[in-house]
Amino acid sequence: MPKNILLFASGSGSNVENIANYFQDDSRVVIRAVFGNNLSAGVVERCKRLGIPFYGFNRAALSDTTGMAGVLRSFEPDLVVLAGFLWKVPAEIVRAFEGRMINIHPALLPSHGGKGMYGMRVHEAVVRDGDARTGITIHYVNEAYDDGAVILQESVVVAKGDTPETVAGKVHALEYEFFPRAIESLLFPANG
Ligand code: GRF
Repeated sequence: MPKNILLFASGSGSNVENIANYFQDDSRVVIRAVFGNNLSAGVVERCKRLGIPFYGFNRAALSDTTGMAGVLRSFEPDLVVLAGFLWKVPAEIVRAFEGRMINIHPALLPSHGGKGMYGMRVHEAVVRDGDARTGITIHYVNEAYDDGAVILQESVVVAKGDTPETVAGKVHALEYEFFPRAIESLLFPANG
């Protein structure tokens, strides 16, 4: 029985594409669908090109948490992966997938996390605060923003000449390298 993944994305979807490519030839894993709140986001085009079903939803649909949880359950997901999803997941849906819903944040939480901290805002804060390092945090989703148990953190140096844009490039590189592997190790824990 293959492992089923559902992905959530609000923006460009480069992480969605990277994850899809990583598991493309792995018959143990099926990316069943991508869910998103923005029908004009780049991720929609990527899904079309990749042949992954995309389901758009608005705030009204997401607020029907019983209905939404039922739709998600129908895919029998082993893992629900937030790959750049900007809305807060309602508590009932978090609870429905307790321990099976993860998120990636483009900073070393608890630094630069929480409501409104996403994308370039995070990298601007890192540069503004003169942080020596930044990186990614992959964590379980709980009912607060960017607050669940940490699964993995990977860091990179913030050099003197770095700008928010160059920091973003370094962080994306970490995301592309480590996010798919973290997903794989969650789906197939190394037999200790
Ligand atoms: C990534 O930086 C990720 O860390 C954050 O949202 C961004 C998504 O980028 N959660 P993309 O849409 O995958 O290109």
